[in-house]
Amino acid sequence: MKKIALATTGGDAPGMNCAIRSVVRTAIYNKIEIIGIYDGFKGLYEKKFLLLSSRSVSGIINQGGTILKTKRFYEFKNREIREISYKNLKEENIEGLITIGGEGSAKGAYLLYSEFNFPVVHIPASIDNDIYGTDYTIGFDTAVNTAIDAIDKIRDTATSHERTFIIEVMGRESGNLALEVGIVCGAEIVIIPEVKFDIDKLVEEIKEEEKRGKKSCIIVLAEGAGKAEDLAKKLSEKLPEREIKYTVLGYIQRGGKPTYLTRKLATIFGVEAVKLLIEGRYGYMVGIKGDNIVYIPLSDVVSKTKTPKIEYFDIIQKMSI
Ligand code: F6P
Repeated sequence: MKKIALATTGGDAPGMNCAIRSVVRTAIYNKIEIIGIYDGFKGLYEKKFLLLSSRSVSGIINQGGTILKTKRFYEFKNREIREISYKNLKEENIEGLITIGGEGSAKGAYLLYSEFNFPVVHIPASIDNDIYGTDYTIGFDTAVNTAIDAIDKIRDTATSHERTFIIEVMGRESGNLALEVGIVCGAEIVIIPEVKFDIDKLVEEIKEEEKRGKKSCIIVLAEGAGKAEDLAKKLSEKLPEREIKYTVLGYIQRGGKPTYLTRKLATIFGVEAVKLLIEGRYGYMVGIKGDNIVYIPLSDVVSKTKTPKIEYFDIIQKMSI
């Protein structure tokens, strides 16, 4: 393999830059030319290509975001757009493609591979940690740490005022981020889309906690399970004596300096992705299971769903007595 390309696709995640650095330097170390595609799949379609060097990725290990930029490009669902994108790669004599992105990006990568037999390897990067086949995605650890920082601060004021706080975290249709955040922030209650939620049960739980001397309460709400504002309104109606407040953490979860675990994962995934292309093993996503690096067929990644760790609810309940 003499020339490969790299793109960051979909929503950004902290650590994407670490993965870019790793892919670029591993490719160059193996005497492979590396082309950066700007703006993700949109840039692939519009042929926004640029040759990268080892120096192109200097000083980015500690930066959130992506130097290659990214766009939501729903038009990539259209086969004609993908065909033009494939032709762009062929025209430039690019022999392999590494995509760094979330679940939707894995689908785009899989289609390029399955429809045109183009050598593609995907690196999972998303704050949502909702991708089948890997315990962790790049950026998840950083987003959890960002939420810890924010919720610790909210806890101070929640305790002082004896208020109930609903904190809405990202995660799209998945509750993985909310559950992890809930455990490590000492939330009394976590609400996720995968588990049916009953407002009257929640009211009872809050009342029970009050009887046990708990005057303030932290509720972590996954965005996929509803809006914090709506829940705050409903709870205020049912518990008029309580002060219910809410905060939407929003896009701060997507930015910031990548943490130790995010940097390590991104660096290892980058090296592994280039290795797979060199070895002629295409149509895979690089992942981690326990301490082991694994390669998951993209056909599995796009057809199977990662389930949240429901057993965490038991821990959350025990910790909130
Ligand atoms: O997938 C990452 C994510 O941050 C989700 O948690 C969130 O729902 C979505 O992206 C937001 O997307 P956008 O950046 O397009 O608003």
